[in-house]
Amino acid sequence: MAGTLQIVPGELLLQSFREQVDNRISELLPPETDHPTDLHRAMRYSALAPGKRLRPVLTIAAAQACGLRSEVALDAGCAIELVHCFSLIHDDLPAIDNDDLRRGRPTCHKVFGEALAILAGDALFALAFEILAQSPVDPIRTSQTIRVLAQAAGSHGLVGGEVLDIQSEGVAGDMALLQTIHARKTGALLGACCEIGAILAGASPQIQFDLKNFGEKVGLAFQVADDVLNETSTAEQLGKAVGSDSALNKLTYPRLIGLEASRELAHQTVEDALALITPLGPASGSLATLARYAVQRDW
Ligand code: IPE
Ligand code: IPE
Ligand code: MG
Ligand code: MG
Repeated sequence: MAGTLQIVPGELLLQSFREQVDNRISELLPPETDHPTDLHRAMRYSALAPGKRLRPVLTIAAAQACGLRSEVALDAGCAIELVHCFSLIHDDLPAIDNDDLRRGRPTCHKVFGEALAILAGDALFALAFEILAQSPVDPIRTSQTIRVLAQAAGSHGLVGGEVLDIQSEGVAGDMALLQTIHARKTGALLGACCEIGAILAGASPQIQFDLKNFGEKVGLAFQVADDVLNETSTAEQLGKAVGSDSALNKLTYPRLIGLEASRELAHQTVEDALALITPLGPASGSLATLARYAVQRDW
């Protein structure tokens, strides 16, 4: 399994929630014995594989920063994680990045075949919205969270970003296009984590807006760090292929501005994000820890 050589505080924070998140995702997923069993096995295989669980913990941290108990945000965080898992299954397909390794294991389509991988991703995506719709908070807040996740995941967010990502393979591209790709394919979902945490907590529209921006910036920095790790790390450490971005001639930050400038830009983006949560005071401590982790991580 992918792991860390050096434990940073963000890693400790993620670890402290991981078992709770994994157990809840397991409860929310249909059992393998449900018909069609192959589909449910594929869904559980990918969603329960060892991931960092950054998105659920970010959702919980955003809710906590606005005064909400972590349990209330857990299911919403798990729903967002299922959207993330769907995106990873589809991202790894031969038609997109064609990867064989994910979270230290063979990718979903390698184990279950392409058709089941596509359909398992589809079903995880649908399940995410079913879970959000069952939220214990009032119906207005619940419908806001559904809208926010749908927008972040859809054609102007993650899915649109994935399209731009594959269309820009081998293309010269510039910083504006690259930032758009990363903001959409990764930033939008992390922005949704923070905005949804704030909505569940009943935070003011200004705080919802600031937390959304905070999450988007953290997501951008996280994806820049992912580009760097794709060039500098090992498959053993990351649990997924390395060197694949340059093999596919992807438009990445290291390709456009080099490794060192990419690291600097990621750090600066995190500093900009941190400035947005300063008004929340000590309650935003976990959010700040996760923001720093986005660029300090080694997997
Ligand atoms: C991988 O996300 C895809 C990117 C957006 C870089 P993570 O690095 O959060 O992957 P897991 O969930 O830990 O496997
Ligand atoms: C990450 O895409 C974003 C999504 C999966 C939506 P990448 O293709 O850059 O990430 P990895 O390297 O496969 O995790
Ligand atoms: Mg990709
Ligand atoms: Mg990929």
